[in-house]
Formats: sequence, structure tokens, C-alpha cells
Amino acid sequence: MNKRADFTASLEQSAFWMPFTSNRQFKKAPRLLARAEGMYYWTPEGRQILDACAGLWCVNAGHCRPKIVQAIQRQAAQMDFAPTFQMGHPIAFEFAERLAAIAPERFKRVFFTNSGSESVDSALKIALAYHRARGEPGRFRLIGRERGYHGVNFGGMSVGGLGPNRKLFGPGVAGIDHLRHTHDIARNAFSRGQPAHGAELAEDLERLCTLHDPSTIAAVIVEPVPGSAGVLIPPVKYLERLREICTKHGILLIFDEVITGFGRLGKPFGSQRLGVMPDLFTIAKGMTSGTVPMGAVIVREDIYDAFMKGPDGIELFHGYTYSGHPLACAAGIGALDTYEEEGLLERAASLEKYWENALHALKGERNVIDIRNYGLMGAIELGPRAGAPGSRGYDALVKCFEAGVLIRYTADTLAFSPPLIVEKAQIERIFETVRKVLQALE
Ligand SMILES: Cc1ncc(COP(=O)(O)O)c(C=O)c1O
Repeated sequence: MNKRADFTASLEQSAFWMPFTSNRQFKKAPRLLARAEGMYYWTPEGRQILDACAGLWCVNAGHCRPKIVQAIQRQAAQMDFAPTFQMGHPIAFEFAERLAAIAPERFKRVFFTNSGSESVDSALKIALAYHRARGEPGRFRLIGRERGYHGVNFGGMSVGGLGPNRKLFGPGVAGIDHLRHTHDIARNAFSRGQPAHGAELAEDLERLCTLHDPSTIAAVIVEPVPGSAGVLIPPVKYLERLREICTKHGILLIFDEVITGFGRLGKPFGSQRLGVMPDLFTIAKGMTSGTVPMGAVIVREDIYDAFMKGPDGIELFHGYTYSGHPLACAAGIGALDTYEEEGLLERAASLEKYWENALHALKGERNVIDIRNYGLMGAIELGPRAGAPGSRGYDALVKCFEAGVLIRYTADTLAFSPPLIVEKAQIERIFETVRKVLQALE
């Protein structure tokens, strides 16, 4: 056996318990990535793979970009770690300022975490503690939405709305309810951009207010555009209405921008593209262009101020050993430098029409029941096989990989979100590959 065959064979007994993966299936027929640059990965045997999903919705600047690599290398040699509990290091303050500078007006305070899941749980805790700081401790309820994905920690799982991610793990956090989701193929199939129908679904929040009493509700959390559940674009005026109802009842609105942040929708943050402002929002992924794990919660000035009015001492008993880790901050500054120098936080806007046309050109291919897009996000929903939902989506992922394109899938929805440096020819290649795969897929 050669070295490569040896390695592949040994994977069947590998110690690595892979996340969100069928371990037995994968280890029998692994798909390995060994190197990356720009828009591409390479397998260990040197096959080039075009990255149509920015790794996992995170490599927004493209792979191994020199400014980011150098920043990480420099920082690792200069100072590997320093605490941010009762101590500080300049680069964490510098990165927070840089983030505040691109955030919407008045969002000037940044709480660092290490992942999207931690950002979500931190945001939920900040929301609860904020009401308590203002003298409304009775606001304990949190509202999520069906088909929402907010990571895998207990808070995020509980407000999340994906059955398979919840059902193994008991009742979750108490005091949580869910809005109905907005996905409606019957009325909105093949919409380009925001679908026309569904603004009235925001009224579901009024239903929950009536049911629970709005004075018990601390916050509503939604993704501006749910990504992991299959790219569900918000109907026209839906988020506006959600915002109005939250404001009317004194409920905080949290946007989970872990995917929509950092240029995915053609502006630095999704709220800026959609024209609807939350009260606080979460980020991760594109924050370091996927290079070093990091996340954050960004809050409006007055929310931070509410914490600063209490007695002297620690204002928020919350944080992580690695909050504001020097390596992650260096990576984040390198990513922001790259985004800003290359106009990447706005680039999706100029490519959006081209992207939309290339994606929607697959209408009519076998099994395609919906296509949707917004910014540089897109999805193709396939009809499920009888008795085997999800298997068609998985097979499409495998076949695309064999044909040299990396995509994502959720059940039978194929999802696309390339690095923001993607060129038109690469967009063509992505969808021509998908077309051929769909034509061959029974
Ligand atoms: C909207 C959203 N929130 C939270 C998360 C969780 O992020 P992480 O996997 O970094 O914990 C994700 C991950 O895909 C996400 O899409």
C-alpha cells in the first residue's frame, strides 16, 4: 500500500470523532482537503476543488491570504496569549475599535467570544442581564424561530429551531418559545431576492406576546437570513414588522449575523443591507475570515451603558479564557485590512445580479423545486426521494466534490456562499458543475 492508501485505510479506526458527520460513512470513503489558496482547496493527491461555500460560510477573504497569514505569524512570535480578565493587551482594544468602526451607527461596544455558538449564548445572557440591570428582572423569556440555527451550546440549541439538533438533548433552557419560520415554497418558489409573501408571519410574535405576556419576554433572536437551515430569505417587510413589534413591547431584537456578517450580503453587516436594526448582534466566521476561531457580540451604546450604571465592580460575570485572544485579534485585523483594501465588504452587491442569474439558470433541471438567493448566498432545493429525505442532497454534495466543487447541503437543499473574491468565471463553473450533477442524479 502506498502512503496515501495507508492513511485512508487507517481512518476507519481513527480517534477523531467528527462533528455533524456520519463517522462510519465518512471514514469508509473520506473526502480530505490538504491545502488551500484563494478560491481553491487541494486534496492530498493534488486534485483542485473550487470552494463554493467559503469553507463553512467563513472564509470570506479567500484562503491563506498573505496579510492574514503574516499577522497571525507575527503575533504568535510576539505574544502568544495574555488574559483579558482584569488585564488587557493593546491588540484586543484595537480590534474592537476596528469592528465598531464598520458596525452600524451607535453599535460601539464589542464583547469577544471564540465561536458563533458562544456569541449566541453570550448575547442571550447579555439580554437577560440588561433587563435586570434596568430593573425589569421579570423579563426572562427568550424567543427563537423554527428552522433557526444559533449554534450548538445550550442557549443557542434551545432558541434554535432545527429538530435533529435538539431532540437528543433533553428540554434545554427553560422559558423559550419559537416563532413560525418563513419558508413558503407554495407562494414564493423561485423568488429572486426577498420573496413577496410572508410579512404577516411576523405577527406570530404578537401571538407569543398574548400567550406569555410581553413583559416576561427579554429578547427575540433571528438570523437576518437563516443560512444553515437552507438559505431562507426573509419576506419583504417581515423583519421591519418584527422590529416594530419588539420596540412596541420593550423586547430586545438580536440578529445572529454569524453568516450574514462581513460582506456576505454586500454590506459589512446584514442589518445594513436589509435596513433593519437590531439592538445587539452576534458575529463569528468571517470575523477572522475563518482563520482563527473567534466571535463577538456587538451592542448598542445604551445597552452597554445600562451595565455601567450599577455599583463599582465587575459589571458582567461572563467571559471566556480566550475572549480577545491575541492571535485571533491579529487574524481579525488582517482580515479587516484585506476586506477594506479589496472592497470585499461591498463586493457581493456588484456580483449579486450575475450570481442570481447563474443560479436561477438551473430552474427546470431535474428535481429542482425552488431556487433562492440574496447577496452572495444561494440555494437550490431538491424534491426529496420517497422514504429517504436528505439522501439526494448528500449525493449531490459527494458528486460535486468528485467533480471538483465544494458545496454545502441541508437535507435536500444545496447551499452556496463562495469567498467574496469569487470571479464570474468561477460562478459559471460552480453552477455548470451543479447542473451536470443534477442531470446525472436519479
Ligand atoms: C447563524 C449562526 N449562528 C451560530 C452559529 C454557530 O457558530 P459556531 O459553529 O462557530 O459555533 C452558526 C454556524 O453555522 C450560524 O450559522
